[in-house]
Formats: sequence, C-alpha cells, structure tokens
Amino acid sequence: MAWYDDDDLWAGFAGAMFSRRRAAEAAELVAKSPLLAFPAGARVLDLCCGPALHVVPLAQRGDRVTGVDLSEVMLARARETCREAGVDVRLVQADMLDFAEDRAFDVVLNLYTSFGYFDDPADNLRVLHNAHTSLDRGGTLLVDVLGKEVLASWVGRPQAVDVDEGTVFMRDTILDDWTRLRTEWTLVAGDTVRRATITSFLYSAAELRALFQQAGFTDVECFGDFDGSPYDNHARRLIVRGRRAD
Ligand SMILES: C[S@@+](CC[C@H](N)C(=O)[O-])C[C@H]1O[C@@H](n2cnc3c(N)ncnc32)[C@H](O)[C@@H]1O
Repeated sequence: MAWYDDDDLWAGFAGAMFSRRRAAEAAELVAKSPLLAFPAGARVLDLCCGPALHVVPLAQRGDRVTGVDLSEVMLARARETCREAGVDVRLVQADMLDFAEDRAFDVVLNLYTSFGYFDDPADNLRVLHNAHTSLDRGGTLLVDVLGKEVLASWVGRPQAVDVDEGTVFMRDTILDDWTRLRTEWTLVAGDTVRRATITSFLYSAAELRALFQQAGFTDVECFGDFDGSPYDNHARRLIVRGRRAD
C-alpha cells in the first residue's frame, strides 16, 4: 500500500492537519483571497478535498462544489461537516490519478500540499493532464504546495505542533538531490506514540510551472501566498495557477 492510501495516517494525524484553527483559516482564505475569487456559481472541483475545510465555505458562498478524495475516512468527515453546515456538495471517492470529467469544471483546486504524491513523475504529470481534461474552456487550475525555495529556508529545524490529543513532532529529510522530501510524523499522546512517513516530490516554481505547461496549461503564474503576492524571498507557499485556453 502506498503511504497516501493509508487511512490511519490521515485519520491519525487529523488533529494536526485539519484542526479547528485550519478550518477557520480556510474559511478566511475563501472569503478574502483574490486567488479563490471565482465568478458567481462557478463549478469548482476540490481535488484531494480532505474533510472539506475549503469545500464548505466555497459552497456556502454559492460555488457548485465537487470534492474528490481517495480516503473514505476523510470523505466521511467531509460528509458530516457538509451536513452540519447545511451545504449541498457532491463528494466522490476517487484517485486523483484517474479522476477526470470532460469539461465539467470552471476551477480545479488542489490545496495544502496534495500534489507530488506519486513515485513515478509521469503519474504526477498525469494528475495535471486530468485536471486539464476536467476544465472547461478558460477554466483554471490552482495548485498550492510548499515550494522548494520556501522549504530551503527552514528545513532541518525541529518542528513540534501541539494538537488536542498531544504533540506532533515532524522530521524532514531531503532525498535524491532535492527531488523529494520525506517527513516523519510522530504523535505523542499520553502513553501512546503513533508514527507515519510521507514521501513526496518537491517542486521549485520553475519546475512546477514547466509541468503545468507540459500538461497544456497557458498563462501560468506563480504566487507566494493566497493574497496574490509574488513568489519571492517573502513567499510562504508556492501557488501555481494555469488556464485551459481551448
Ligand atoms: C494534505 S491533505 C489536504 C486536504 C485538503 N486539501 C485541505 O486543504 O485540508 C491531502 C488529502 O489528499 C488525499 N489523497 C491522498 N492521496 C490521494 C489520491 N491519490 N487521490 C485523491 N486523494 C488523495 C488524502 O486522503 C487527504 O485528504
């Protein structure tokens, strides 16, 4: 089983990845980010939607949202959150490697480092091809990852995050000459210790832009945060946006 197909990982570390604080941040991003401002009633695909942190505020403002995720545990949480929020959302269990619906969306989102999971670089490119297929003419794909240049400024420093259940410690290792990143997560909750390892591709802005172009996207732009600021020495994320022109 691939690491990303392990429900225990997503459920076990949900306290760190999908905290109430992150849910509030996601709602604020949807409300304020110029990168997440779409025409009224836009058909939005949230690819790797997790427990619906962005899906809910997008649907609440009137976007027509489809959330796709591989994890049944994450989708169960997403269903529950959408039910509580009273929003009507389509949730689909699918692998991003396969999911494509011909010209069904105006926007495809892939947020919070949900890209670069496959060992074979061709498979990661295929995800971008799938997104291109799923977009209607003029539609946009937005991918949000931790850029290689951003990571380089702090990788190696110990990280500890307090969560409701305990504390999560994270240890990063750069692999294959800065091609991939391995992050080892350890959750210490009382007497219980839970471990997981994530290994994914790392992209510089130039590398991810080139992948977008290979997949057929035009007008490819890079941003350093959701406020639309440039990808420069102040960047906190690497956000790449491209358009399906035809
Ligand atoms: C880091 S989380 C981000 C979730 C969400 N985008 C957010 O901002 O909270 C990555 C998500 O991708 C999902 N995932 C992992 N591999 C996947 C795949 N091959 N296809 C679809 N979803 C996948 C996981 O189940 C998890 O919910």
